[in-house]
Amino acid sequence: MTKIAVLVSGGGTNLQALLDAQARGDIPNGEIAVVVSNVPGAYALERAAKAGVEDITVRKKDYPDTAAFCAALVEELQKRDIGLVVLAGFLSILDEHFVRCFENRIINIHPSLIPAFCGKGFYGLTVHERALERGVKVTGATVHFVNEGADEGPIILQKAVDILPGDTPEVLQKRVMEQAEWKLLPQAVALFCQGKLKVEGRRVDILP
Ligand code: GRF
Repeated sequence: MTKIAVLVSGGGTNLQALLDAQARGDIPNGEIAVVVSNVPGAYALERAAKAGVEDITVRKKDYPDTAAFCAALVEELQKRDIGLVVLAGFLSILDEHFVRCFENRIINIHPSLIPAFCGKGFYGLTVHERALERGVKVTGATVHFVNEGADEGPIILQKAVDILPGDTPEVLQKRVMEQAEWKLLPQAVALFCQGKLKVEGRRVDILP
């Protein structure tokens, strides 16, 4: 059984998708063991509590620097024997030490089709604003492993979502979540927990 930690900073709709998938039995061999927020009072924490999952808050400003903050996170996760870290709208940068401690065991969801509209500064509504400005007709979401580069890690799953006339960033964000993010993230987590993801350099093979 893989013990899963979900790291959040905000509303936690992706966390909810994971909790719902778990309740349906769609994450065999996986158990969401803890939800970690870097933002006190984030609504995601309430979702965890309602589902009976332990939640903790680790604030960056309680530590002298990023390294100390990340070391504290690693300690909390290792203490709980966490085998998979899921970033579900976690808005703090994780340092190299953290990434090395959980190499190929950190999964992130990004609201575009990487390598479009990703990298430094591309988060939240900005991603959708840029896609609309550029006039692309299709966007989507990507689940990928996290390495040292911003949105650079091996891609696990992607799903395309149409952009429609009259879309605003908010409308598009909601469609990308409903049609792609909330489906892809639980799928990727389930595949990981079943040992079906094989990383080959920058490519991920999905085993039958
Ligand atoms: C999602 O759009 C996700 O792709 C991005 O941050 C947002 C988090 O939303 N990384 P929520 O907190 O899961 O509702």
